[in-house]
Amino acid sequence: MQDASLIPLAPLFASAAEALRNARHVCVLTGAGTSAESGIPTFRDALTGLWSKFRPEELATPEAFERDPETVWSWYEWRRELIRQAQPNAGHFALAGLARRVPRLTLVTQNVDGLHQRAGSPHVLEYHGNILRDRCTVEQIVADRSDDARAGLPRCAACGGLLRPDVVWFGEAIPDEPMLSAAAAAEDCDTFLSIGTSSLVYPAAGLAEVALRRRATVIEINPNATDLSPHADILLRGLSGQVLPVLLQQVGQ
Ligand code: OAD
Repeated sequence: MQDASLIPLAPLFASAAEALRNARHVCVLTGAGTSAESGIPTFRDALTGLWSKFRPEELATPEAFERDPETVWSWYEWRRELIRQAQPNAGHFALAGLARRVPRLTLVTQNVDGLHQRAGSPHVLEYHGNILRDRCTVEQIVADRSDDARAGLPRCAACGGLLRPDVVWFGEAIPDEPMLSAAAAAEDCDTFLSIGTSSLVYPAAGLAEVALRRRATVIEINPNATDLSPHADILLRGLSGQVLPVLLQQVGQ
């Protein structure tokens, strides 16, 4: 293990690798921590988290958008630029590799950055949408932008309706397809990986609880404790960009 801080975890890595080697269906839930090493701030990390600097109720709710679409759009354009500059990290690539190594892997992400897909992960369930897509607020579908610059705020090329980022805001429902597929995977899996999430935001945080009830082996990868930690079978306390490549290597052995 290159990273000395991981050596004490060797027995836990061995058990986690064993569980993955014997897995029939692995369900993975990722959160903002998975993209932290790509330079994208998490939401709740004390000083660096987005919510320590910005008030979610002013930026990530339909009411905030109704009230002040300019401010909401400038914040999302700022985040989009961060994401366009970012590269998938070793953790993203290791998960894409794991999908090729186990019989079946369902990857559910709360992240809206598309980095799992850019790292080669297939069929990613985008539980909270994707920040790089626009949705028409009139037709409620993913839409192209009108190139009518006089519009100021982005407008739908088809109907001229106001566009919004294609993400899930607080108080909004999870899109049916990812919600139903993720719930089915949590029910069916025999190994569940919870990576880089504070396990605070529902319904995503409920997926691990479903897997626990179904007696799946639950593995948490996070440098910090979360509400899930007391219930998880294996805790790999480290950064996902360092832990996942080592874990994948051990699964391969
Ligand atoms: P949070 O910011 O709540 O939690 C990030 C977690 O990642 C924390 O538990 C950190 O300890 C951990 N972490 C930080 N760096 C890490 C690293 N390098 N490797 C592994 N873990 C690391 O983010 P989420 O749990 O994703 O929703 O937040 C859930 C949802 O709340 C988001 O999707 C967003 C937010 O409000 C909506 O906007 C609807």
